[in-house]
Amino acid sequence: MSVPLDLLAAATAVRANAFVPYSHFAVAAALRTRSGRIHAGVNVENVAYPQSQCAEASTIGIMVAAGDREITESLVLAGGERLIAPCGGCRQRLAEFATDDTPVHLCHPDGRHLLTSMGELLPHAFSPGHLSDDAIGPVSKTAAGRVRLRLPEAAPSVAIVLGSGLGSLVEDLEDADGFAYADLPGFPVSTVPGHAGRLVIGRLSGVSVMCFQGRVHLYEGKPAASVLPLLQLIHDLGCRRVILTNAAGSLKREVPEGGISLIADHINFLGTSPLVGGPNFVGLAQVYDAGLRDVFRRKAGELGMALPEGVYLATLGPQFETPAEIQAFRALGADLVGMSTVPEAIAARYLGLRVAALSAVTNLAAGMAEHELSHDHTLSTAKVAGEKLRRLIVGSIQDIASA
Ligand code: HPA
Repeated sequence: MSVPLDLLAAATAVRANAFVPYSHFAVAAALRTRSGRIHAGVNVENVAYPQSQCAEASTIGIMVAAGDREITESLVLAGGERLIAPCGGCRQRLAEFATDDTPVHLCHPDGRHLLTSMGELLPHAFSPGHLSDDAIGPVSKTAAGRVRLRLPEAAPSVAIVLGSGLGSLVEDLEDADGFAYADLPGFPVSTVPGHAGRLVIGRLSGVSVMCFQGRVHLYEGKPAASVLPLLQLIHDLGCRRVILTNAAGSLKREVPEGGISLIADHINFLGTSPLVGGPNFVGLAQVYDAGLRDVFRRKAGELGMALPEGVYLATLGPQFETPAEIQAFRALGADLVGMSTVPEAIAARYLGLRVAALSAVTNLAAGMAEHELSHDHTLSTAKVAGEKLRRLIVGSIQDIASA
């Protein structure tokens, strides 16, 4: 929902009249009511400064005097470093005339805007330090709301999902700020070693990126739809490009352990989809974006890195495959095998995101090497291939962002 320009204009027009001789912090509010009228007001201070009247309270007084009783949309306009939300008392006052769904726009004269709702704000009415970042942060019921409240300027161009043992890419981020998945509403937390469970937002080679250190896997017993919140967050923050990475077994001897591969297509052998019970018939003829793949191919050439393309087959796991299964998968056309990525790629396409996916080859698939496969082996070889992925992604990111 974009900024309602009429409410913003009404608030902007009166903000200069705020009576703020003590704090010099002018705030304006504008309310749209069921009658279609817009009322605007400002904060009014007095020498007993904490007793001052907030802009929302002033505006409610004006609205009630005009005979209106139902707020359909509201806006608060203030300067300062951070966006300002209604204080606890004003949330309560507004709630008398609004519903949980009533939009609340937090606006800044420099153009920043955050949309929240009464339902998100009200439970935290009267919490201590109501205007501080700490108090505003936890009130959002959506992951995107939480990220925006803390990083209002974050507009990542590219999202990167880092697979097993590949999380170290975040060390290359500048101006990084992070969120534990546990603090992001709706995010399931992975229990797999090698998955930190953190979102880190920062700049990579000057490009604003969001990196997910860890993901959920279906073998953890989670439904396929548990991948949706991560992709939904990417989408809701306005980011439209996602790079999925994973550790995979190779079905081709010429793509050995320690190598990397670009996913050209996939075979969903999971027997389920994140879209089960939801939207139907999403087209998957072009899951892995041709333009993004071109960028990776070109950059790999420039860096002198081999980047074979392959078809990735997703199995449920958590056990590795048998040699007979690998033979069968080869006959089906698979080049790589792993336990992730496919549900995320499907969810991303449903949301209209452009997807690229890269595998770090941690082993030759079952039956192709002497030793038994293990997760420890995956994590240790993921470091070698992960280093190559890191170089490729760092080198490509500017072109990916503009592709
Ligand atoms: N099979 C399935 N998943 C994997 C493998 C594998 O050989 N290697 C890394 N993840």
